Amino acid sequence: MERFIVDPIEFNAQAERWICNKIRLVLESSQRCHLMLAGGATPLPVYQRLALRNDIPWSQINLYFGDERCVPVNTPENNYSTVMNSLFPDGDRPEGMHVYRMCGEEEPDKAAEVYELVLPERIDILLLGVGDDGHTASIFPGSAALDEDKRRVMPSIATKPPLQRLTITPPVIQGARHLLVMVQGGGKADAVRRALVDHNVPAAIARDGDWMMDIQAARSLPEDQRLGLLI
Ligand code: 6PG
Repeated sequence: MERFIVDPIEFNAQAERWICNKIRLVLESSQRCHLMLAGGATPLPVYQRLALRNDIPWSQINLYFGDERCVPVNTPENNYSTVMNSLFPDGDRPEGMHVYRMCGEEEPDKAAEVYELVLPERIDILLLGVGDDGHTASIFPGSAALDEDKRRVMPSIATKPPLQRLTITPPVIQGARHLLVMVQGGGKADAVRRALVDHNVPAAIARDGDWMMDIQAARSLPEDQRLGLLI
């Protein structure tokens, strides 16, 4: 449960480094690495940095998605499309890499059931973002997903368009072997404090994971949670 507070300029490089270290660690004791990716804008430059590396063992990686908007694939709001275009801008898919897409274009309940079947027992590396209202994945404040402890994937309703979504649930988040929550910008500072201190927003589900925040996103944390953490 590390708290990394980084200079905004360093954020993407530090997140890239964390991800690469965890992939290496997982593959020291396993043939495959189950990596689940976050949607939204924050991680895209990190994915673009990963795309420039030639040392990521993609052939040993299974890619999953933490949530999806119920919009057609290959539209700008579709997480799968924006994430894959960032990771593999030339459209090539490395040999041996397996990609499991949440089919947001299908009937939500059925799509959730189908996706649940392809999930491994535990995700090795889970990446998450946080919304300014404290949501994570597509678990929004007041969502039924907050209390879900059986289903691992379910439909959800967002508080901002696209409203219909699919999301992983708390058991998947809490079962991840390595979890990184990436948060940038002062607009998220209140959500960060509510997640890590007040525990009264959905992102609190991820509070036992590693959090990488820039200085602005961490500015509302109590001083004792900010001291000496700058990297
Ligand atoms: C999504 C994400 C969502 C995202 C947060 C933060 O589908 O939008 O899963 O949980 O991580 O909304 O988004 P930004 O990184 O764009 O601020």
